[in-house]
Amino acid sequence: MPMRVAFLAAECEPWAKTGGLADVVDALARALGRLDGDAIGTPVDVFLPRYRAVPDPVTVESATVLEVPDPRSPSGHSPVTVIDVPAGGYRLRLIDYPAAFDREGFYGDATGDYADNAWRFGLFCRAALEALRADDRPLDLLHLHDWHTGPAAIFRDGRYADDPVIGRAAILMTLHNLAYHGWTTRSSLPQLGLAPGDGIVPAGADGIDLLRAGIERAELVNTVSPGFAAEALTPAFGMGLDGTLREMGDRFVGILNGLDNAVWDPSADPDLAAPYSRANLAGKSTCRADLLTRVGFVSADPGPVIGMIGRLDPQKGFDLLSDAAPALLERGIRLIVQGSGDPALAGPFRALAAANPERVSLIERFDRAMARRIYAGADFFVMPSRFEPCGQGQMIALRYGTPPIVHRTGGLADTVIDETTSPGHGTGFSFQGATVDGLVGACETAVGLHRHGGPAWAGLLGRGMAVDFDWTTGSAPRYLDAYRRAIAIRARRRSAEDV
Ligand code: GLC
Repeated sequence: MPMRVAFLAAECEPWAKTGGLADVVDALARALGRLDGDAIGTPVDVFLPRYRAVPDPVTVESATVLEVPDPRSPSGHSPVTVIDVPAGGYRLRLIDYPAAFDREGFYGDATGDYADNAWRFGLFCRAALEALRADDRPLDLLHLHDWHTGPAAIFRDGRYADDPVIGRAAILMTLHNLAYHGWTTRSSLPQLGLAPGDGIVPAGADGIDLLRAGIERAELVNTVSPGFAAEALTPAFGMGLDGTLREMGDRFVGILNGLDNAVWDPSADPDLAAPYSRANLAGKSTCRADLLTRVGFVSADPGPVIGMIGRLDPQKGFDLLSDAAPALLERGIRLIVQGSGDPALAGPFRALAAANPERVSLIERFDRAMARRIYAGADFFVMPSRFEPCGQGQMIALRYGTPPIVHRTGGLADTVIDETTSPGHGTGFSFQGATVDGLVGACETAVGLHRHGGPAWAGLLGRGMAVDFDWTTGSAPRYLDAYRRAIAIRARRRSAEDV
């Protein structure tokens, strides 16, 4: 019997994206649908809130109104619409409840997180579980992603424990980001229909950590690279969850994210000024000239250009790059930075760009096409992340022939081979310790090799472009194994409960 799998996630490309979570949810769901054999009953269901920014789907398979338990509703239930959309390899299931999701942001606005996030994501999880029940088909596995979906684990083991569909399902929880826990204070517990001393929240507790609650209830937990899985067990990277993760023992694993080779392909990327490939790199210089012109740099200047793209979040180390910028500019390096998020992190780049308009460019927005032009047109791509569960930019940069310069941590350490320590075998450059000096040092080395050009440089580019992170051959089968394992653990636990 093919297994039936449902994803719950707060982001999914191209419908709703702030970061890598969205790409991974979409790419993995599609890759699972493409796997040979009938291991997975396709299509995989992907549940996503219908935020205001979600584009109207062109084709709708069905729209069903369900009465969903809602602790905030006087009747105890609210009518939530589930809109099913065929999404090229999986079934997107939008949870439509305007009071919760028809808002400017996904998680908050300029003043901070929405105060009713526990209710919003609690309702999202309940609606997804109700939709799965209404399908009236056995469900084998709930694949939960990050804290927003923690409530689904709480509900499976609480209200739905005896439900034939939900109670039976195993949970795999994937940790894309340990920094956000969905901490819900004691006074907000009613938003989830929870109360201290209810058997879920201990009597004296100050609140509930939704990510931890998900981890504790999941049969299996993974994060998105083996390197970060090892780091997350330490207090320095575990963000307060290292103890909980250590207790999971071998039920906590690392599975490296893949990259969708069809989505990220410089030989067929419509946003690029010219196509290119490993065999024919000529188009890359056209892309470089196009990028430099677009940002107002002198396009004929052969001096090195470093790109950086990401969420403006302390995790990503934008501040390290802005602090390093004076030293880099002195060495003739130019910078193109794109990001959206915390405006405070953009401030220093705004000032640098104002003072050096032909040498520093800031694109302070989320711009898919421009991002692709940076991956293709820059000479290097930098990721000085303080921690990085996996990271996608470095994989794209490798594929686009733009050697990455990364802090040697988590998934960055797993995916970039440092040319300095492995000369002739490297795919990029990495530095130990998230410091300005480390970053400047690695940039200097990288730029030195670039200046020399020749076979050493060509070899570095070629090796990077040859790395294959394809989901279908690599990571998706690993997830399939994890699903099987989680299902077996669930079955064992349930039969142990029966005796
Ligand atoms: C988060 C992590 C990033 C990872 C992505 C997808 O954004 O910070 O490292 O690549 O999730 O798993």
